[in-house]
Amino acid sequence: MERARRKLPAIMQKENVNILALESSCDETAAAVIQNGRTILSNVIDSQIALHQPYGGVVPEIASRQHVLAMERVIAAALQEAGLDFDGLDAVSVAYGPGLVGALLVSVSAAKAIAFAHDLPLIGVHHIEGHISANYLAHPDLSAPFVCLVASGGHSHLVKVTKGGILTLGATRDDAVGEAFDKVARALGLGYPGGPLIDKIAKEGNPDAFHFPRVMMEEDNDDFSFSGLKTAVINFLHNLSQKGEQPDVADLAASFQKAAVEVLVAKTIRAAKREGIGIVALAGGVASNSLLRETLQHAALANGLRAVYPPPVLCTDNAAMGGCAAYPHLMRGELMDMTLNAVPDLQLAERLGND
Ligand code: KG4
Ligand code: ZN
Repeated sequence: MERARRKLPAIMQKENVNILALESSCDETAAAVIQNGRTILSNVIDSQIALHQPYGGVVPEIASRQHVLAMERVIAAALQEAGLDFDGLDAVSVAYGPGLVGALLVSVSAAKAIAFAHDLPLIGVHHIEGHISANYLAHPDLSAPFVCLVASGGHSHLVKVTKGGILTLGATRDDAVGEAFDKVARALGLGYPGGPLIDKIAKEGNPDAFHFPRVMMEEDNDDFSFSGLKTAVINFLHNLSQKGEQPDVADLAASFQKAAVEVLVAKTIRAAKREGIGIVALAGGVASNSLLRETLQHAALANGLRAVYPPPVLCTDNAAMGGCAAYPHLMRGELMDMTLNAVPDLQLAERLGND
């Protein structure tokens, strides 16, 4: 790794710096080439959704094995799409946590092997730091500070992104919001992954048909809780089935979605106003949700704030976001060595971010 570190001064002088970014924390095998932290030269995502569908959720063992099968092909495709070979790369990055340990290990091992074989600097990024950075790819003019709602299958965080780093303002006390979408979708018989299916069917339903609790909406903190909302929907379904009645799936999906989105948006806007920050952003798989995007946009406008979010392809897991997050680490010489390991519960520590 010393040879890779010695390349740093020259890399910092280069006009174009190309990072190969890898991602395999859950059920997407992904590789991307990112130039100068903001330009996507390629973004290849190999989704395993079809493999996990019969089980109604991600099966970790299947995910790891599929990552092993797909990783080389996905890397080759990302290089080809970028029109580069390994010699055209300046660094390799990998999201080393949080996620499923067996899944993470595949891209961590691949990134280490590539860094070792080609004497490339190795950068480790936090998966959520990546999700947040997707906003920079979508809005090249974006600059910190902004408040970002990170809503995915594993996380519901409200963070403040400043030029100096990422500060957690609040987080879910129980289920992540994506998890609630997935569990409610399963209870409604919609299948997996639940988020996009609820988003779709909710468009045909009445969001005011049922009133579900807006948990912690009025509480004076930036935390969330989605377990109670999920349980309220599931209990409602049980009561109906005991009475032998059929649920109106579209109305239930729409009412659940509205309850979740209202809390997410209200707390995001309130945090931005309290912090005196003019930009609110979305990140993570749930940031694809059409009602969340619309509602945040409207609320931001009404409060004189700017709302930004990445296109759906950069909201769900991808490697491009990691390449964007890796760039400032590379430029500051924050490199990993061959001891880098997957960290399934990696904390979103205060760390220097992209500005
Ligand atoms: O960020 P992501 O791809 O993986 C994690 O890091 O967890 O997020 C996946 C989550 C799943 O829970 C999925 O149901 C949810 O994002 N999701 C959505 C939508 N698209 C994906 N939730 C609500 N509406 C959507 N359109
Ligand atoms: Zn994710």
